[in-house]
Amino acid sequence: STVRHYKFNVVMKNTTRICSTKPIVTVNGLFPGPTLYAREDDTVLVKVVNHVKYNVTIHWHGIRQLRTGWADGPAYITQCPIQGGQSYVYNFTVTGQRGTLLWHAHILWLRATVHGAIVVLPKRGVPYPFPQPHKEVVVILAEWWKSDTESVINEAINSGGAPNVSDAHTINGHPGPLSNCPSQGGFTLPVQNGKTYLLRLVNAALNEELFFKIAGHKLTVVEVDATYVKPFKTDTIVIAPGQTTNALVTADQNSGKYLVAASPFMDSPIAVDNVTATATLHYSGTLAATPTILTNPPPQNATAVANQFIDALRSLNSKTYPAKVPPKVDHNLLFTVGLAINPCSTCTALNGSRVAASINNVTFVMPTTALLQSHYFNKSGVFTTDFPGNPPNVFNYTGTPPVNLQTTNGTKVYRLPYNSTVQLVLQDTGIIAPENHPIHLHGFNFFAVGKGLGNYNPKKDPKNFNLVDPVERNTIGVPSGGWIAIRFRTDNPGVWFMHCHLEVHTTWGLKMAFLVDNGKGPNESLLPPPSDLPTC
Ligand code: C2O
Repeated sequence: STVRHYKFNVVMKNTTRICSTKPIVTVNGLFPGPTLYAREDDTVLVKVVNHVKYNVTIHWHGIRQLRTGWADGPAYITQCPIQGGQSYVYNFTVTGQRGTLLWHAHILWLRATVHGAIVVLPKRGVPYPFPQPHKEVVVILAEWWKSDTESVINEAINSGGAPNVSDAHTINGHPGPLSNCPSQGGFTLPVQNGKTYLLRLVNAALNEELFFKIAGHKLTVVEVDATYVKPFKTDTIVIAPGQTTNALVTADQNSGKYLVAASPFMDSPIAVDNVTATATLHYSGTLAATPTILTNPPPQNATAVANQFIDALRSLNSKTYPAKVPPKVDHNLLFTVGLAINPCSTCTALNGSRVAASINNVTFVMPTTALLQSHYFNKSGVFTTDFPGNPPNVFNYTGTPPVNLQTTNGTKVYRLPYNSTVQLVLQDTGIIAPENHPIHLHGFNFFAVGKGLGNYNPKKDPKNFNLVDPVERNTIGVPSGGWIAIRFRTDNPGVWFMHCHLEVHTTWGLKMAFLVDNGKGPNESLLPPPSDLPTC
C-alpha cells in the first residue's frame, strides 16, 4: 500500500455550456472535477484549499472511513466547513473496497459543479473477477443550470416551493451533440472493433435518477457502488444520484457512430425534467461527426424498465468476495420517508406554507456546529438522541394520508452500540405524492434484503428476504409507493449521515444521522481529530 497525495484547489472558473457562460465553483478549474485514483489499502491525503467565497467541504461518497469520520465531509455533521482562504487535509485509508465511487462537495448545492470520480483499483496483482478490459473509461452524468445553482435553491427556500429544474443533463461535462447547442459537440468514447471497455459510470446529478443507454450495444453490469455483482447483460442502466455502476461494453458492431444517452427516470407525477444528455461511441476508422445510429431512451415514467434492472442486481457472493449479510438482527427499525406541507409565515408559495421533507416525521435541522465534534468532546445542547426508531404517526403510508400531518423540527440522532446489526425498513409515504427516494448512508455499506410495494408488513415480508446474495451498496432507491429493507453492521464508530440524495429533498429536511458508539477493543474507537480540522 502507498500514500497518495492530492491537491484540490477550489476556484471559480468561467464555464460555457449550452451556449451560455457563467462562473462556477470547481476543483482545479475542471467540470467535472479530477478523478481520484487509489488502490485498495492505500492511504489518501487530499489537501483542499478553498479560494472561493463559499464555505466548502468534500465528501468521499462510499468510502467507509473506518474510524476516520473526521474525513467524511458532510458539513455540520462530521466537520465545520473550510472557510474561504482556509485549507484542510482529508486523510483516510481505503480499507476492503475497490471499484468506482465519487467525491462531491457536501454543503449547500455546490456539488452541482464540485464533483468527480474515485477509482479504487484492486491491490497490485489481484485481477478483476471478470475479463480484463482493453481500456477503462470514467463516465460522469450530471446536470447543468444556466443560472447560479445557489440562487436557484435560495429562491426555492424563500418561496417555500420547489426549485427550478436543470436546463440540461451532461455526460462527462457536456450536454452533447443532440442538445439545443450542438456546436459544443460532446463527449466521445473512441473504441476499436472487437475490444471490450469498462465504463465506470457515476451519477453526480443533484436531483435526477437517470437511464443510461448505448445504441446497438449491450452492457454487462459487473459492479455497483464499489461492490462486485453477478454479471448480467442489459440494454439500459438505471442509476440514482450518488450511485455508481461499472459495466463492460464490447465494440462488436464493426464500425459507425452510436448514440450514448442519459435521460431522466422519475416515477413521480410531479416531475417535469426531460432533457436527454447525449454522447458518441465512435469506432476508429469512421469519420468523426454526430452519431448516426440512434436509440430512444425509455420514457421518464418507465418504472418497469427501472425495476427490471434493479431486481437483477445480486452480490457476486464468491469465495473471494462473500456477501456478509447479517443473519440476525439486533435493532429493528422502520423509518418513513417522504414530503409534507408545513406552515411558514415568510413563504410566498403554497398559500403561506412550505414543502418539508422528513424521516419518521422529523424534519432534520442542521446544527451550527458539527455533530461529530460535539459527540467526541461531549458538548451538550447540539443534538438529541431521541430520533424515533418507528413511525410516531401510524397511518396507511401509501394510501390516503391524514390531514395536517405536519412534521416536527429537530437535530435528532439515533444511537446504536458498536458492532450490532441493524435492519432498517425505509417506507415511502405518499403525503404529497409517492416518489422514489435514493437514500444514502454514510460510513457503511448495507445489503438490500427486501423490497415491495404498499405498506411493509413485518409479519409476512421478512419471509421473502434474500439473505444469501442481496446487492450491497451505499445508496438505494426506496420505491415510489413502496418500501425497501436494508441490513448493516455498526462496525464503524462515529456520527453517520443518512439522507435522500436528491439534493432538493435533503434541503427540505429528508436527512438524519446515526451515532455509533465506540467499541471496547483497541481498534474499535473513533481516532482523535486531525489538528487542522476546521472550527465553526
Ligand atoms: Cu453523496 Cu451525504 O452524500
